[in-house]
Amino acid sequence: MPLTPVIGAEIHGVDLSGSLTDKVQKELREALITYQVIFFRDQNLTLDQHKAFGRLFGELHIHPTEPSPEGHPEVITIHADENSNAVAGMKWHSDVSCDTVPPMGSILHMHEVPAAGGDTLFASMYRAYETLSAPIQTLIGNLFAWHESIHVHGKRSGNDRILRDGRDAYPESLHPIVCIHPETNRKVLFVNENFTTRIEGLGRSESEGVLKILFDHIATPEFQCRFRWQPKSVAFWDNRSTQHRSVWDYYPACRHGYRVTITGEKPGHSATQTSFERL
Ligand code: SIN
Repeated sequence: MPLTPVIGAEIHGVDLSGSLTDKVQKELREALITYQVIFFRDQNLTLDQHKAFGRLFGELHIHPTEPSPEGHPEVITIHADENSNAVAGMKWHSDVSCDTVPPMGSILHMHEVPAAGGDTLFASMYRAYETLSAPIQTLIGNLFAWHESIHVHGKRSGNDRILRDGRDAYPESLHPIVCIHPETNRKVLFVNENFTTRIEGLGRSESEGVLKILFDHIATPEFQCRFRWQPKSVAFWDNRSTQHRSVWDYYPACRHGYRVTITGEKPGHSATQTSFERL
């Protein structure tokens, strides 16, 4: 059942904890691509079942800095309560876009929700790109932007720069501003308020001005759906075609869940694929 004509659908009659037939897996993948974010209710998932469901769609991503439950490095804990002074995802973003190869999708399973509030907003980056005026589409069509993470993850985790496994705790990457979705070949806007810091080749005030236009545009309500969580709800979003942000309007109540993140491929750009591949 679609949530809006633009983005989001709630799917009923499937138990994500069990083994899913090839047909059901294919239908879920098609629904994800069509609706960009799909929602499920009343799912009883252990962390192992949650990971197994994620692995049906690709390898799981291990986040360099976010907290994980003991023994499950592929799972991120999403938690807020009366002791929190920030929560994950309070600005519009696609997950870990600072990675050279950002994730394809994320699956969030909520265990505990506040009595009211704590919704998540999702926005379609197809619609965001398609509703830009032609002159702005032309301006950004061949530009690349930096996505950084130290200002996002550094503040909360306080890690050393190089992790024990040798990975950089705070990756940064240059991506096309307009990417081609690898499964639909449609153009998406791929800059976000959380990670994107500057546009390559522009002066500082030019870059800030263009990014402000794009960030304001991305937050247009007509591109969005808003998901009201219940305990055991699941949201599965396509990071390549959407952005999302959490709403922390429920302090001091508790909200608790777990996310697995599925690895993706390097964002592609039709006009400059060759130069992008060189980066
Ligand atoms: C996230 O950005 O993955 C967290 C979203 C949420 O907690 O609603």
